[in-house]
Amino acid sequence: MLQLEFFPRTELKSLTDFQKLELAGLCLADKKILIESCEFYQTPKANDVIRRQHSNIVDHILGFRFKYVEEMLIAEARGFDPDGSCETLGPSMHQGIQTWVGLDVQILQTPYSEILRILQLLKIRPYQHIIDLGSAYGRMGVVIGGLYIKNSFMGFEYVKPRVDEGNRIYKELGLSRCQQVVQDLYDKNFKMPEADIYFMYDYGQVEHIDHTLKQIEAVAYKRPIKVVVRGKFTKGIIAQGHEWLELKYEGKLEELFSIYTAYIN
Ligand SMILES: C[S@@+](CC[C@H](N)C(=O)[O-])C[C@H]1O[C@@H](n2cnc3c(N)ncnc32)[C@H](O)[C@@H]1O
Repeated sequence: MLQLEFFPRTELKSLTDFQKLELAGLCLADKKILIESCEFYQTPKANDVIRRQHSNIVDHILGFRFKYVEEMLIAEARGFDPDGSCETLGPSMHQGIQTWVGLDVQILQTPYSEILRILQLLKIRPYQHIIDLGSAYGRMGVVIGGLYIKNSFMGFEYVKPRVDEGNRIYKELGLSRCQQVVQDLYDKNFKMPEADIYFMYDYGQVEHIDHTLKQIEAVAYKRPIKVVVRGKFTKGIIAQGHEWLELKYEGKLEELFSIYTAYIN
């Protein structure tokens, strides 16, 4: 049971419980209490629809302005590709990079409950650094910033307005160890920073993901790492040519992620 300023004895057991908080327009102090609580990120039911609805409410409670940012991106993309779809709008405005402009943000991003599950399975130790490669609005940073107070997070994302919105929320919530950075991961000048944990959710084309995996492999020669991969696409690329990654956990049922480890001696 949570003790919020305006809602003492708050339970988060059903979507209705979350909706009550969403409609209340919480003060910052209450938002800070919520982000530090595991229950806030747990879906009331473990099915895909409820998981996404739960994430949608959590986003509203936190104050993410997805609709505004994505509509602005779509409007800009229409200038390049008037009849485009979410398959083509992103590449049309972002030099061929698949940024999924126009895709529902609840499909674009990993649900909070799955992020929580991933982080719990990783058994993160203090001071470990986590990187999300293609981080969209940086949801993982909210969960790490709230629950893992001795860890740091960096999200690399091509689309600047998404980066700015993530950083705005981090700043408001006081998540100073979390940061979103504008970066094209396929840029020839980009060097993969060292981290303990890398997270990727089908961020780009085959050659981009393959290139990123090769950069992570170079890090694995220096230190032990864990790589969390979400989405069938990236898992297929790993199966076809990245045997240096050892599969440690394969998501069950509706879990769409796998966890790999590597330390190449
Ligand atoms: C499927 S979303 C995943 C978002 C986030 N990792 C999550 O799981 O919630 C992939 C993101 O990668 C970004 N992306 C695609 N190509 C990229 C590139 N070359 N460099 C950086 N980001 C890229 C897209 O704009 C999109 O926001």
